[in-house]
Amino acid sequence: MTDTPSLVFFAGSAREDSVNKKIARVAAAKATAAGASATFIDLRDYPMPLYDGDLEEREGLPAAAVELKALLRASDGFFIASPEYNSSLPPLLKNTIDWVSRKVTPDEPPLAAYKGKVAAIAAGSPGGLGGMRVLVALRMLLGNIGVHVVPQQLAIAGAPGVFDDHGQLTDANQVQALEDVVGQLVSTARALKA
Ligand SMILES: Cc1cc2nc3c(=O)[nH]c(=O)nc-3n(C[C@H](O)[C@H](O)[C@H](O)COP(=O)(O)O)c2cc1C
Repeated sequence: MTDTPSLVFFAGSAREDSVNKKIARVAAAKATAAGASATFIDLRDYPMPLYDGDLEEREGLPAAAVELKALLRASDGFFIASPEYNSSLPPLLKNTIDWVSRKVTPDEPPLAAYKGKVAAIAAGSPGGLGGMRVLVALRMLLGNIGVHVVPQQLAIAGAPGVFDDHGQLTDANQVQALEDVVGQLVSTARALKA
């Protein structure tokens, strides 16, 4: 066993030019710099139908949900950068979290991809609040399914104008704030592994 925390980074948006993908990518690079093993994934590569109990009974979990669940189970935690839709969670993110919360096999412990994991959350939006209201909903949801969500969080307003052509944040205060969030994620993941 290694003491290097293994962390998954993703956004609650499939959009090619998603500002939240940009945030997740920058955060993954910061986690690598802080000594973690960081993997960025794109939810576009994990397509899942809208959750339907009859479909689940007939066919089980979609292949993408099984794959993502295995990835999260093998990790120590994750980072989510989420858009805010009408002051709450985007359906892509909620649907993904819901499918992954379901059991692949009946003998599996409940919420196996979530319980005891650590997470950090951020949001990005063109609006003035940076999507900070989705963070309330996301923190509550993750806490209720057994995830330790680190206290520090970040809402980035005025996106995408806050990124340069290379997808880097241009404001030193925002860079520092993201480093603080990721730093808490990495140090908490490391402490939980010890
Ligand atoms: C259905 C819908 C609802 C939205 N509601 C909000 C909102 O409540 N607050 C906000 O800041 N932005 C809202 N937006 C704008 C998103 O923040 C914006 O589209 C953002 O770029 C989405 O994130 P992405 O770039 O990662 O895809 C909404 C967008 C959509 C499509």
